[in-house]
Order: sequence, then structure tokens, then C-alpha cells
Amino acid sequence: MSLLLGFLLLLLMLSLHYSPTSSAATDTVSPGHALAGMSDRLVSNNGKFALGFFKTVSDNSSSYTSRNSYLCIWYNKLPMVTPLWSANGESPVVDPASPELTISGDGNMVILDHVTKSIVWSTGVNATTNDTIAVLLNDGNLVLQSSSNSSMVFWQSFDYPTDSLFIGGKIYRNKVTGLNRRLVSRKNTIDQTPGLYSLEFDISGVGHLVWNSTVIYWSTGDWDGKFFSLAPEMIGATIPNFTFVNNDKEVYLTYTITKETAITRAGIDVNGRGIIGVWYDNLQNWLINYRMPILHCDVYAVCGPFTVCNDDNNPFCECMKGFSIKSPKDWDIEDRTGGCMRNSPLNCDFTMNKTGLADRFYHMQSITLPHNGMNVQTVASQDECSEVCLRNCSCTAYSYGKSGCSVWHYDLYNVRQQSDGVADGNWKSLHIRVAANEMQTTERKRKSGAIIGVGTGAGIGALILMIILIVFWRRRQKWFACGVEINAQEGIGVTAFRYIDLQRATKNFSERLGGGSFGSVFKGCLNDSIIIAVKRLDGTRQGEKQFRAEVNSIGIIQHINLVKLIGFCCEDDKKLLVYEYMPNRSLDVHLFKDNAKVLDWNVRYQIAIGVARGLAYLHSSCRDCIIHCDIKPENILLDASFVPKIADFGMAKVLGREFSHALTTVRGTIGYLAPEWISGTVVTSKVDVYSYGMVLFEIISGRRNSSEVHFEDGGYSAYFPMQVARQLIDGAIRNLVDAKLHGDVNLEEVERICKIACWCIQDSEVDRPTMCEVVQFFEGILELKIPPLPRLLNNITGGSHPTSLLSIDLQ
Ligand SMILES: *[C@@H]1O[C@H](CO)[C@@H](O)[C@H](O)[C@H]1NC(C)=O
Ligand SMILES: *[C@@H]1O[C@H](CO)[C@@H](O)[C@H](O)[C@H]1NC(C)=O
Ligand SMILES: *[C@@H]1O[C@H](CO)[C@@H](O)[C@H](O)[C@H]1NC(C)=O
Ligand SMILES: *[C@@H]1O[C@H](CO)[C@@H](O)[C@H](O)[C@H]1NC(C)=O
Ligand SMILES: *[C@@H]1O[C@H](CO)[C@@H](O)[C@H](O)[C@H]1NC(C)=O
Ligand SMILES: *[C@@H]1O[C@H](CO)[C@@H](O)[C@H](O)[C@H]1NC(C)=O
Ligand SMILES: *[C@@H]1O[C@H](CO)[C@@H](O)[C@H](O)[C@H]1NC(C)=O
Ligand SMILES: *[C@@H]1O[C@H](CO)[C@@H](O)[C@H](O)[C@H]1NC(C)=O
Repeated sequence: MSLLLGFLLLLLMLSLHYSPTSSAATDTVSPGHALAGMSDRLVSNNGKFALGFFKTVSDNSSSYTSRNSYLCIWYNKLPMVTPLWSANGESPVVDPASPELTISGDGNMVILDHVTKSIVWSTGVNATTNDTIAVLLNDGNLVLQSSSNSSMVFWQSFDYPTDSLFIGGKIYRNKVTGLNRRLVSRKNTIDQTPGLYSLEFDISGVGHLVWNSTVIYWSTGDWDGKFFSLAPEMIGATIPNFTFVNNDKEVYLTYTITKETAITRAGIDVNGRGIIGVWYDNLQNWLINYRMPILHCDVYAVCGPFTVCNDDNNPFCECMKGFSIKSPKDWDIEDRTGGCMRNSPLNCDFTMNKTGLADRFYHMQSITLPHNGMNVQTVASQDECSEVCLRNCSCTAYSYGKSGCSVWHYDLYNVRQQSDGVADGNWKSLHIRVAANEMQTTERKRKSGAIIGVGTGAGIGALILMIILIVFWRRRQKWFACGVEINAQEGIGVTAFRYIDLQRATKNFSERLGGGSFGSVFKGCLNDSIIIAVKRLDGTRQGEKQFRAEVNSIGIIQHINLVKLIGFCCEDDKKLLVYEYMPNRSLDVHLFKDNAKVLDWNVRYQIAIGVARGLAYLHSSCRDCIIHCDIKPENILLDASFVPKIADFGMAKVLGREFSHALTTVRGTIGYLAPEWISGTVVTSKVDVYSYGMVLFEIISGRRNSSEVHFEDGGYSAYFPMQVARQLIDGAIRNLVDAKLHGDVNLEEVERICKIACWCIQDSEVDRPTMCEVVQFFEGILELKIPPLPRLLNNITGGSHPTSLLSIDLQ
């Protein structure tokens, strides 16, 4: 069984086949002209929209065929049906009944069961004329109007949006009457039944994503004239041009498009996320360029009850231990409202404790607690807390910690596993109540060494769509398709390559430029002109992680000092990343290799500034804070003019806007690792500052900090950063500079760079400057004091090799 990622909404759309009819279509339903059966349809006058009965027909890869047909509006010219609106989501026409759309005697537009003539759905208005007709307008609005006077409109589909916002349609709230025209998600990827998620405005003009009309899990923030404060990406969504109106009477959001011919989709997807997408002809598919929230697990109850959500996993929903999926076939079509259910019923008899049959708890660590916990005041120990829970049969979990005892009753929602390396200090542990025999089975399983595997699911399509997502929610949009470069004139260019093309471009991966734990990098040539570097990641899970991390971070950013991702390839287990080629290789080659061209001081200084700018951008200028986590000379590439470009984002971590998250699992390279990695305290972007400081020392000395040369006397006092710190105080920096430069340096710059380096490697992250401050130091905007000796260095009294000092087991 492979559960599908949210992105598969799109993939599933691919499987919604229909065959366009050639019969001359009209745009009007009138008493004399009904719309009958599955092939009949209305087409708007401009040919853009179609209205008809629609049923999801499965292809051979999916076992689902809906028996329900719905009256839907979709884009007429697309080769697949993407329903934008449906009339009878709650009352489908069920096979074998055949549907018919007509005007009833009372002037309403109705859906009839063709055979019994019973009304399945009706516009339900009181028309004041007896000559009503239904017309599908050019903007996709279906209106019920008087045939003699088209400005007498009695009903229109724009007033009853489903999950999509049409161009010109509105998400609307009337502040006087309370009328709330919201978008409502579909329940699953097959049917048009309304789901639990909605996108709506409150009376103050803030948009919300809401679960089951009660729980707000994401908000837009206030409108600032161009975009919502918490959704700044909207402004860059080049296609939609949003208009937001908020006055005494009403609040609404609508959009237009600047490019007439563009085909867009905006709305709420089956997983409760707001989306904006564009149809892409060359790709013959939708590209969703904006999703909010970005993480599935940020959507309330996205996995249903008794589940654990983790965006790092594929699938991202799993059952808690002792539970299994209630309805796997619903999960397959992304309806997880049923969540998971107990494998064994609870015993609930507290007095059975002695017999060993009483319910037990198992411990889940590093998770976020479910919503709606009840705090129990009078409890002083974990045992008591557990007892409180055991005594009430509806209690399903408890947590005991600094804030006392909390218990949960009935369904547990929103338990979220700490995702890879990210912590915001709120990770807790929870004790889940299960029947006694569940604990025995899991214990037995563990003893016998059975590993409860986690299906990794069918990831490739999802991965590609993930990339699409990530790449596309950026402000400057980049369109791409598999193997085709799109809209190159618009300066856009993250391309999805075919494996075979990259194989050809690299002459079957013949010219290896370098490699690492991730795989290898090869030189290649596109169209006989553009030289590229192709990084081939190995097929393991680690490779996949790196791939995601890399596209995640670098796919969304652009800066002169960051290496540019040209494209990628993702076929089966083949994962490749394509970068611009850097003729001057990496910084380590020039600094440390004996036969390399010696970089003169000016170039070194410019490299130091460039790297600082690139990091400053990563940390603060782009939307999310990206921590590179592996700054070292190997990852600083040099272009033809020796402009530095930070590369290798395989360990990078994208942190949320609020910066409250921090990393916990160690990543990076020994020798450049900040002490907080080792001490296990909270880790922030300051780890990059530390590593950067270490690199600065190497730029100055032209040697590895850990190089044996510095330890000829066997003492730690010779450790270069230590020397620099000392000499700065003593004022003898000239001796520190790489001898290969023969003293041809700017001493003022040397001093500045030495000071910066020493500040960057301060033990406490709060003492280190931010990268922005580092840039300002370089620019002379901020003045630099003499840095104190880093304590870590100062405390060392010789004999110990710094690398061993900083050595820790990374795995
Ligand atoms: C499904 O499979 C059958 C036979 O296996 C084939 O004839 C048919 O064309 C397939 N349909 C699709 C949509 O692939
Ligand atoms: C239609 O008219 C009837 C009787 O006049 C009234 O009860 C009903 O509320 C009206 N319906 C609508 C939708 O206006
Ligand atoms: C509709 O109403 C008009 C007058 O309002 C009347 O002349 C006409 O016969 C009616 N048509 C039908 C089909 O009932
Ligand atoms: C059409 O209907 C509108 C709105 O009810 C009305 O103002 C207008 O006078 C009508 N036009 C004609 C030609 O009847
Ligand atoms: C959603 O809300 C309704 C009414 O408040 C409630 O009956 C229903 O159980 C809720 N759905 C879920 C899945 O909790
Ligand atoms: C966006 O829409 C508004 C209102 O429709 C229009 O005035 C404005 O020119 C549009 N902006 C662009 C860039 O097309
Ligand atoms: C239940 O029994 C276990 C051992 O069987 C014991 O450790 C525990 O304290 C008992 N709990 C209560 C609440 O009596
Ligand atoms: C169990 O807890 C629920 C929810 O707090 C409460 O409504 C119920 O009365 C409790 N039952 C017993 C037996 O205490």
C-alpha cells in the first residue's frame, strides 16, 4: 500500500480522463434545450469554459471509479478535467441513474434523474419571470437569467464557489448580513463532496484556513495594500493580480490575470492548503506555484485522529503504535478524516492493574502535543498523572512535564513528530494509552528484532511535485517542464531534465569533477554551449534527503554569491542536480593545493566579502532563514572571475519565518563545527557564522586550521585561530598572513578580517555577529572592537589537537 502525498492531487488529476465531444456546443440551457447524459456540455461563447456532468473515471493505475456524477465547470481546452466548480457536491447523481440539467416549471435550473425525473438539485430561487435560461458566461460564471433581459440575474454560480476561485469570482463576507462565501475543500481526490477545510475571511478582513468551521490553523495577516502580511509570496505570484476590498459593508478578495491567455487555478486543495497554480501547455499539466501552509503537518488534523504527522516522511501520515488505518481506500484518495483506529479495544478496568490486563501507556518522544489537553491540577507525579488517565475510560493519553499533568480524552489530533533536525523548544513527550496486549505485541516484536518498516511510498512523482511547489512559491517565478526550458525570455530557468539528456550532456558521466558522501559531480555540456556541473546523488535515502534539502533551499533563492541551480532530474531512483559550471573550482583547491595558483590578497578579501554577502542573504534576506550548515572551503566555488558562490546545500535547513525553530541534530564538517553542536544547546544560523570564521582564518593563512604545520610544537597554542586571537591583542598580525603572498597585503584589511574571524568564532553564539553585521564590518559601516579570546581556545593548555577536540561522532 502506498499512501499518496498531498501533491498527488495533481497526479490524480492526470488520471481524470474525458473525451471532448465535437458536437457543436451552445452556452445556454433553456426549457427547450436540456443538457443530458455524460457527453453533453455547454461551452462558453469564448470557448474557455465548459459545463457538463462529470465523473472521475479511473485509469488502470487506480482502483477507484466513482459512481457519482456531478455538474461541473472546467476549462474546456485542457486535455483533462479539473473541476473548478460543482453544483451538487452533496447530492451526486449515482449510477446507474443518468443526469439531466434543465429548467424546471418554476424557472429554476435543476438537475434531474433522467429516468425518474426526480429533482436532485435546484438553484432554488423565486424567479420573477417565466422565461429563465441558464447561460455559461465567458468568465466561467453560470447564471440563471431572464432570456429577454440579461441583466435580470436570479442566481449565479460565482455566488456559490466550491474549492476554486474563478478570475472575477470572490471570496466574500458581508459584514452586515454575515453572508460568508468561502471556498471549501473537496473531501477526496475523486468526488466533489465538500471536505472539512475552508478558506474564508473574518469581519476584520483577515483570511483564514479553517477546519470544520471551528479551528483556524492558518491566517493571512492584514492586507498591506499589495499582499497579506503573512503571505508575502502572493505579490510575486506573477499571474494573479489580487484585489482586496475591505469596507464597512463587505470584505472580499478577487483576482485578475495580467496575461489574458494564462489558465490559472486558485483555491483550496484536498489537504487543506491554499493553492495557486497555472496550467502549463508544454507540460500538459498544472504547476502549483503557491501553497499555504507549506508543510502538510501545519494543516489541522490533516492525518486524522491517532496519527503522527511528519513532513520529512513519505507518506507524511502514519498511525500511532497500536493503531491502524481505519479506511485504507479513503487514505489512498487522500481522505484521512477517519484517521487510525485501535487494533485492540481498551480494557478500561482500572482494578485489573494487578492482573496485568489493565491498559498501558507507551511513550512517544519529540512530538508536539495534541490539541485540547486538560490540565489536572492536583497531581504531583507521573504515576499519579497516569492513574488519573487510567481511571477515566475516555482518557486516551497523558503528558507529565514541567507544566504539570495534562490528559486527553477521545480522539488525539495533530500529534506531530519532530521533523528532521528542527526543534522550536516545544517538543514534548506523550504517553498513549493502549490495551495491554498491544504493549506485549510491540515488545515481542522488538525482542525478536522485527523492524516495523515505514513504507517510503511512491515518491518520485511526489518529489517532482514537491520541487514544483518549492520552486514555485518563490516570488520570482520560474517555469519549467521536463526537458523543456520555458519562457526563457522571461529570465526563467529551473529545468527538469530527462536522465537521458544529462547522460548525453555528460558523455555518460565521463568527466568527474569531484565527489563526496552524496555521490559525484560531473562536467557536462548543454546544447554544445552551456557548460554545466551535474551532481549525481546516490540512490539511498540519504541521497533523497540531500536532493530535497538542496532543491528546497537553493531552488528558491537567487544571489550572485550562491551557486545557481539550473535544473534537476528525478527519474526512478536517479536524482541529479544541474548547476552552472564554475571554472575555477572550489576555494580549497586554491588555498591548500601546492601547485594551485596563489590567490592574491585582493581576491581573497573579495571572496571573504562575497561569501559573507551570500550567507547574509541566506540568513535574512530571503523569506525563510536558511542555515547552510556546512560552510567550508570545499563548498565555496569560484567562477571565472573568482566571484565566490556558496554551494552544496545538501545539509541546509530551511527554517520558518518566525526563527523560533532551531536545529538539534549535528550536521556539518569537523573543524568548522560550532561548539553548540557539541554541547547540544540550541543551534541557530550562528553556526554558519562560526564556520565562516573558521574559513576566514584559512583564507588568511592559506592553510587548514587543523593542518599539522601549526602543531609542530605539538601544542595547541599554535592552533592558527588561537595565534590570530593572541596576535590581535599583541598587534603583530603581519606574521599571520600566508607566506605565499610575500607580504603583499593590505594590513588594514588583514586586521579587519582577523578581527571579524575572531568575533565569528566566539564560544557563545550571542557574542558572534550576524552575517549582516559581518557584511557591515567589511563595508566599514560598523566598527570593530578587539575581540576577546574565545574561551574554548583559551582554555586549552596544549597537547590536544583541535580536530580531536572538535571530533565527535556524527552518526
Ligand atoms: C486499461 O487496460 C486495458 C487492458 O489491460 C487496456 O485495454 C486499456 O486501454 C487500459 N486503459 C487505460 C486508460 O490505460
Ligand atoms: C420564494 O417565495 C416563497 C413564497 O413567497 C418564500 O417563502 C421563499 O422564502 C422564497 N424563496 C427565496 C429563495 O427567496
Ligand atoms: C409568460 O408570462 C407572460 C406575461 O407575463 C405571458 O404572456 C406568457 O404567455 C407566459 N409564458 C409562458 C410560457 O407561460
Ligand atoms: C432589465 O432588467 C433590469 C433589472 O431588473 C431593469 O432595470 C431594466 O429596465 C430591464 N430592461 C428591459 C429592457 O426590460
Ligand atoms: C465537525 O463539526 C461537526 C459539528 O460541529 C461535528 O458534528 C463533527 O463531528 C466534526 N467533525 C469532526 C471530524 O470532528
Ligand atoms: C491589477 O488589477 C487592477 C484592478 O483590476 C488593475 O487596475 C491593475 O492594473 C492590475 N495590475 C496589473 C499589473 O495588471
Ligand atoms: C499497576 O501495576 C504496576 C505493576 O503491575 C505497578 O507498578 C503500578 O504502580 C500499578 N499502578 C497503579 C496505579 O496502581
Ligand atoms: C471522564 O472524562 C470526561 C471528560 O473530561 C468526563 O466528561 C467524564 O465525566 C469522565 N468520566 C468519569 C467516569 O470520570
